[in-house]
Amino acid sequence: MKKLVTAVLLAAMLLSLAACATPQTTDGGSDGGTITVGFAQCKADESDWRKANTISMQEALSAENGYNMILADANNDAAKQVADVQGFIDQEVDYIVIAAVNMDGWDTVLKNAQDAGIPVILVDRTVNASEDLYTCWVGSGFKEEGVKATDWLASHFGDAEVNIVNLQGQLGSSAQVGRSEALVEAVEANDNWTLLEQQTADWSTDTAKEIMTTWIQQHDNINCVYAENDNMADGAIQALQEAGIEVGGDNGVAIISFDANRAYLEMTLAGLINCNVECNPLHGPKVAEIIQMLENGEQPAKSEVVEESAFFYNTITQEIIDARAY
Ligand code: AHR
Repeated sequence: MKKLVTAVLLAAMLLSLAACATPQTTDGGSDGGTITVGFAQCKADESDWRKANTISMQEALSAENGYNMILADANNDAAKQVADVQGFIDQEVDYIVIAAVNMDGWDTVLKNAQDAGIPVILVDRTVNASEDLYTCWVGSGFKEEGVKATDWLASHFGDAEVNIVNLQGQLGSSAQVGRSEALVEAVEANDNWTLLEQQTADWSTDTAKEIMTTWIQQHDNINCVYAENDNMADGAIQALQEAGIEVGGDNGVAIISFDANRAYLEMTLAGLINCNVECNPLHGPKVAEIIQMLENGEQPAKSEVVEESAFFYNTITQEIIDARAY
């Protein structure tokens, strides 16, 4: 019996020594095992782009790679997304990643994350909040994307009259704000350009089709559609085709799109989309790299714009499309 008690005491002492030797969890870090990441996504199935983005995050932050990624889908509801992030703070996740539905409304919850010692990585979109409240941002240059589109528009139409309708993304998102801003500035700078209509279609094909159908009935001079993502460009094209109006190519209504997902690059090759500006959705590996840097005590760049290009109906090839990842 005495021997048994001694053995139990010895085992207890060894266990407590081992516990002392285990590295302690630091604020926002992991315990050397699985890293729990809360990912606040806008709306996981909203568009082809958003689906590719969600998959990229799931693949990079997978269980095999040592992560437990908790996906919160805000269904493009800004208030719900802020609550989702507060939920991650309450769950004491190791990192929070946010693809922000709206630029505004982040100060309080970001401060709460900071006070809880949880690093916040902004992905895809920017927010209107002090840089001190988040660790870093990696994403797209939305205004630059818009400028690529308007530069193409200028070269395509030259001095001819351009009558534009603008299907906007969800209002208040940095993707919409940047792309719309580039268009408005270019319209102001070109006397031969007129912005006939501007309305959000919330990134949706069906909504874009409905709005475009109405615009076609109201205006007989539309010769350019500036659709702020592939899905909305698709909706506009369907409406134009159903109205018997020539689309794309050298002489049809010029279609400008953003995202450059594979299916829509095929439409670019077919001449239906004239200019498709890339928006890169593959943020997962970069986010994983940032988390590993933070785990190693390194400081990632405060902001990083991903590389993006543009594709045009008269220069794109099947080889270019086949070589792309999404
Ligand atoms: O923030 C990227 C934009 O958001 C994409 O253009 C759009 O398809 C998505 O919802």
